[in-house]
Amino acid sequence: MSNLSHSISSLNSVAMGDKNADLVLKNCNLLSVYTREIIPKTQIAIINDRIAYVGPDASHTINSKTVVIDIKDKYVSPGFADPHLHIDQFVLPSEFAKKSLLCGVTSLFSDPIDIVSVAGYKGFLEFLKLGEDLPIRIFQVVPGGLPVDAKFSNCKTLSLSQEKSAIKHPHVLGMGEVFSWTKVTLREPKTMKSLSSMLECDCIINGHTAGASEKKLNAYVSSGILSCHEPINFDQVLERLRLGMWIMIREGSIRRDLKEIIPRVLSHGTYLNRLMFCSDGLDPLDITNFGHIDHCIRESIKLGLKPIDAVTMASKNNFDYYNMGKDLGGIAPGKLADILIFDNLKSFKPNKVFVGGKLVVSNGNLVTKLKKKVISPWIKKTVKLKKFSENDFQIKSKKKQVLANTIFMQTEIITKLSSAELSPNEGLVRASLDSDVWKVATFDRTQGTNKKSVGFLENFGADIGAFASSWSFHENDLIVIGSNDTDMAIASNHILKNQGGLVVVKSGKILASMPLQFGGIVSTDSFEKVSSNFESITNSIVDSGCKFSRPHLIPLFLPFLALPSVRILAGGIVDVKKRCYIPPII
Ligand SMILES: [Fe+2]
Repeated sequence: MSNLSHSISSLNSVAMGDKNADLVLKNCNLLSVYTREIIPKTQIAIINDRIAYVGPDASHTINSKTVVIDIKDKYVSPGFADPHLHIDQFVLPSEFAKKSLLCGVTSLFSDPIDIVSVAGYKGFLEFLKLGEDLPIRIFQVVPGGLPVDAKFSNCKTLSLSQEKSAIKHPHVLGMGEVFSWTKVTLREPKTMKSLSSMLECDCIINGHTAGASEKKLNAYVSSGILSCHEPINFDQVLERLRLGMWIMIREGSIRRDLKEIIPRVLSHGTYLNRLMFCSDGLDPLDITNFGHIDHCIRESIKLGLKPIDAVTMASKNNFDYYNMGKDLGGIAPGKLADILIFDNLKSFKPNKVFVGGKLVVSNGNLVTKLKKKVISPWIKKTVKLKKFSENDFQIKSKKKQVLANTIFMQTEIITKLSSAELSPNEGLVRASLDSDVWKVATFDRTQGTNKKSVGFLENFGADIGAFASSWSFHENDLIVIGSNDTDMAIASNHILKNQGGLVVVKSGKILASMPLQFGGIVSTDSFEKVSSNFESITNSIVDSGCKFSRPHLIPLFLPFLALPSVRILAGGIVDVKKRCYIPPII
């Protein structure tokens, strides 16, 4: 991003007519996010990557070298932003950018917590490289919540000195969602030092306050954390707004909260300037089928929000929150020329997209090239495990009958501790497809510690042999759910061979596979290939009778200690509330 200080003379000269503009857009129906009005017949003059003039007549900025485009009374808005998402998932940033730009999103505020949990600071720097020199703006934060609970977690994180080094990078704005909020309310020493060092450098700190209220929420906000994307109802939104927070209403692959929140925002007459939309992450099928921030705008308008207010929430408010309002967020002199052109205010699919004055989408198609990035070989070798055999998944018992602790899946994400009676056969306690009791095994694949645990999981329902994944929040253990040890070993060896990914196995055959070569969590394949692989993984499990429609979320959340009630990590099965390990067999 260019620095405004280097451009003021040139911008001033164009505005005054002493220098010609590079580009002038005529006959714009301008959505002014500053006055919440639509101004017809507006002209916009651009030099280099910034806007120099906005008004009724830009003729004084035009000479023979100026490109003039007649917008023909179409609607013109600033580029949209997603203020919080994880793009270190599924596809490389360049592949994600292709889809996002078609949705009018010109700025992504990325929280690369997944890659840091796999590969620490080295992984963070490697990921930063992937977001540079793209025709979309990618801003980064250092992860703010790792690990959730150091007693059990094996994940990598950044040291204080690494955090301090990271924020010196021009694209790093501060700290990402501080999701283990009890670390703040309990004033955990490293968390407090991290927050202080961010505040000393005037960095932004994003929040995650699910379940916090009253004095705990006050303590959290008083620590300088001023946003949250976790409210799932309007009362939570209002409580946080009243304490001076900014709210990112989430509408993405993890949750969709617009329907619950927007009608109450409108009936209450809530002040809109501190509301934004965010995705928190989108899987390849969701961004294809629903869209990105454009989807939030369409849905909010259907729920009663005025188009100009929805556009303001999708643009200006994000940059005001991130203290970037002098550069981005609206169409005005001095601002970077991130501009969208729409045929109407219903579909909100941009016909044209300019980023920094350069046309990147025209007639709804990408018209810019994305440079292929060189990926360091080491980040493609993160499954530090040895070849598997059936023995790796065995649980032995000499008894005729055992009572097993089970992780009962209530949803793909929510678990409860349950139990099941199992009859060992030849000294081995096996899964039981008839009673829907599965083995679940986890192996530390990132640190190479040989830590592993095997337990039982209930209520999965699929008719498959094994489902394995190298991607989970935020342990990134290899997790294998299986009905028999043979298929579990085949699935694990497939992940080992691919150095990451998801795979479904039945009767010794691979039914579906999605390689995730970059850190075992991101694919280096094209968006289309990843999308197709992801669909195959989902369908092969769901069509076989799985009780849940998004089975990839099961291994993703199984080790996630920020949620109750029972989780499994390479170190063992964890009772989250009691903060203790529990055995697989009672
Ligand atoms: Fe998040």
